[in-house]
Amino acid sequence: MERLTVELGNRSYPILIGDGLLGAIGRHVAPLLKRPRTMIVTDEHVAPHYLDAASTALAAEGIAVSSLVLPAGEGSKSWAGLARLTEWLIGEGVERSDHVVALGGGVIGDLVGFACSIVKRGCAFVQVPTTLLAQVDSSVGGKTAINVAAGKNLIGAFHQPALVVIDPMTLATLPRRELGAGYAEVVKYGLIDDADFFAWCEANGAALLAGDGEARHKAIAHSVAAKARIVAADERETQDIRALLNLGHSFGHALEAETGYSDRLLHGEAVAAGMVLAHQFSAANGLCPVADAARVRDHLASVDLPHSLASAGINTGGAELAAHMAHDKKVRGGKLPLILTRGIGRSFVTEDYGLDSVAAFLDGQRG
Ligand SMILES: NC(=O)c1ccc[n+]([C@@H]2O[C@H](COP(=O)([O-])OP(=O)(O)OC[C@H]3O[C@@H](n4cnc5c(N)ncnc54)[C@H](O)[C@@H]3O)[C@@H](O)[C@H]2O)c1
Ligand SMILES: [Zn+2]
Repeated sequence: MERLTVELGNRSYPILIGDGLLGAIGRHVAPLLKRPRTMIVTDEHVAPHYLDAASTALAAEGIAVSSLVLPAGEGSKSWAGLARLTEWLIGEGVERSDHVVALGGGVIGDLVGFACSIVKRGCAFVQVPTTLLAQVDSSVGGKTAINVAAGKNLIGAFHQPALVVIDPMTLATLPRRELGAGYAEVVKYGLIDDADFFAWCEANGAALLAGDGEARHKAIAHSVAAKARIVAADERETQDIRALLNLGHSFGHALEAETGYSDRLLHGEAVAAGMVLAHQFSAANGLCPVADAARVRDHLASVDLPHSLASAGINTGGAELAAHMAHDKKVRGGKLPLILTRGIGRSFVTEDYGLDSVAAFLDGQRG
């Protein structure tokens, strides 16, 4: 088992990574509890595979467990989902010192985290992520949210978990497409500031996606360590450090908006295409070697991830895509900070480029 720490003073918390850890969560959760009682929240895809194992592991430590199984999918990250979950927690008699267990992907993690930030003015929670995306990204860092009509993740809070338990074996049941979407976020850490890790991805990405346990463990541990470091340095994204995690996301956001946040394009798939576009835009502006942008595109293409507007299924004009970007949450004072790059592993934040130049660039990328 590997143990990392998110260093946030008296809110620091451990991240445990190890095959089979789900069957041992009781041992890791028990020391956190003031009373032997916890509530597990999961979704209907995850429950049949892992709810029993999680409940049994907690019960083995003498912890009383109740559970709530929500519908799978973004629809649960909503006002209705939040109302249902918070009412359920209150009905279960949740206390502030209790630790609610979020067992699932980023949807469950974001929803449970937000519910726990407001129920009884805040109770604790434990992340047990079961998608690659949640294991390498969303379970760490304390961003929690629901979606509203005006957009994704617009209502939320920073609320750090008390513990993150990652069992890579839970990925065995994850659909290949979801695995690929999570892998895009793994590659992101290499592209942000770690060229060696990007090279590792080029050499090992295919094996990871095919189920190689060692490659999975290494990718998760490396990614989570990077995220933990970035969160510790800039918890609330008040400097430009945490913003680097949005590499590929502004372009990706435009593609997600264009496809209506539907199954046509998963978040990670949009990020994959978005990272290629960010590199190509950087190259087009003389910031980044053309060969680096090609390397990024070629690697993502080699693992069947979208790597262009056409392969993302988009044939929309640049102005329309850029207009989606103008609605990004990250817009400040009318300007959208873009994450661009000087090459693989050399990303940076800039406000030097207007949306009109982005629109012209995107027009040129249409297939
Ligand atoms: N908080 C953050 O920092 C952060 C970062 C990135 C993304 N997010 C959020 O995360 C969400 C996306 O997360 P996600 O990609 O994990 O989606 P998800 O939670 O919807 O999971 C994807 C699908 O896989 C299923 N599933 C989960 N684990 C499984 C398993 N082990 N076996 C079989 N099926 C399984 C789910 O039921 C769902 O159908 C988005 O809402 C996004 O906004 C948050
Ligand atoms: Zn993302």
